[in-house]
Amino acid sequence: MYSPVLEKKENPIILGIESSCDETAAAVICGRKVLSNEIASSADIQALYGGVVPEIASRAHTDAIAKVVEKAVQNAGITYDEIDAVAVTYGAGLLGALLVGVSFAKAFAFALNKPLIAVNHIRGHLAAAYLCENSLQPPFITLLASGGHTAVLHTKSEAEFEILGATLDDAVGEAFDKVARVLGLKYPGGPNIERLAKDGEAVIPMPKMLKGGGGYNFSYSGLKTAVINYCHTKEQKGETYDKADVAASFQSAALDVLVEKTVSAAKEKGVTCVTAGGGVVANGYLRQALQTACQKEGLTLVLPERRFCTDNAAMIAAEGLVQYSLGNVADMTLNAKASIPLSATLSTPQNPIKK
Ligand code: KG4
Ligand code: ZN
Repeated sequence: MYSPVLEKKENPIILGIESSCDETAAAVICGRKVLSNEIASSADIQALYGGVVPEIASRAHTDAIAKVVEKAVQNAGITYDEIDAVAVTYGAGLLGALLVGVSFAKAFAFALNKPLIAVNHIRGHLAAAYLCENSLQPPFITLLASGGHTAVLHTKSEAEFEILGATLDDAVGEAFDKVARVLGLKYPGGPNIERLAKDGEAVIPMPKMLKGGGGYNFSYSGLKTAVINYCHTKEQKGETYDKADVAASFQSAALDVLVEKTVSAAKEKGVTCVTAGGGVVANGYLRQALQTACQKEGLTLVLPERRFCTDNAAMIAAEGLVQYSLGNVADMTLNAKASIPLSATLSTPQNPIKK
C-alpha cells in the first residue's frame, strides 16, 4: 500500500524531476545544497526543425529519464532509501513531455513509498534563487524572464507572491527566439543572439513602446516586429546590414526595460532584495545590467547560477523543498497539465508534516 510520510526534517533530501520541454533533468538537493544536477537535452535534434517538436521531445524523454534519474542519485552519493520526497513538474509545458516525468515520478514514489510533490515549472524558476543563497528569505522582488513568461513579482513569503506586472503579448525569450530566426541563427535563439551581440553595437534605434502599458507590464510584439521589418526592408532593397548590430540593439532594448522595472518595483515596495529566474536570466548582458543597477540603488541581488536559470531539475527540487516545508504533497491521482497559471500549486496539505 502507498502510505508515505512527510517527516519534519530541516534539510530533507529531495529528488527533482523535470521534463516539461526538451530537457530531461533530474537533481538531488539536501536542504538548499545541490548534490547532483543531471540534464539530457534533445535541443540538438530540435534545432534541425527550428524549434521543439513535441513528439520528438516525448520520445527523447522516454529514452532518457531512467538513466538521468539513476545518474542523479548516483552522483549525489545517496541511496534510493535516503530520498525524503520526489518533486516533479506537473505543468505548464508540453503535455506529452510532462506525462513522461509525472508517470516516472509517480511510479518511483510508489515503488519506494516516498511522498510525491507536484511542482509548477514557473515556480521552480522563481525558487532557483534559494539554491544560490542559503540565507535568502522573502520579501524580495523577482524578475521572471523565460521562454513563456515575463513578469515582475513581489514574493511576500515562501507561499505568497503578487504579480506586479507581466507581458501583455510575447514573452521576452520568445522575442529572442523569433528575432534569432530572422537573423538566421539556430534554435534556441537566446544564447546565439547574446553571442552575436558581442560583435556589434546597439546603434540601431528601437521602439520605445516597451515602456508603455503602464505600471510593471511589458510588451514585446512591437519590438519584435520592428526588428523583423528592419531586416526585411534592408533585404528587399538589396542593402547590407550588420546582423551583430541588430542583435546588440535588440538585446539592449529587450533587456534594459526589465532591469528598469525590476529596480523601480523594489524601490516602490520598499524591498531591499532582488532575485531573478528563467532562461533569459542566463544572459550575460542582463546579469551585468542587473548587478550595476542594484549596486547603484543599494539593493542586494541574488542571481541563480546560469545552469539554474535555463530548465533544470535542481530548481524543481528547490520548489519541492518550499512545498515540503509547507506540508504540501500530491497523491497518485496527479496528472500533467499543459497550462496552469503562475500562481497554481496543485498540492494541498493532505498529509501534514509529522511532528
Ligand atoms: O526558462 P527557459 O529555459 O524555458 C521556459 O520555461 O520557457 O527559457 C527558455 C528561453 C528561450 O526563449 C531561450 O532563447 C532563452 O530562454 N534564453 C536566453 C539565453 N539563454 C536562454 N535568452 C537570452 N540570452 C540567453 N543567454
Ligand atoms: Zn523553464
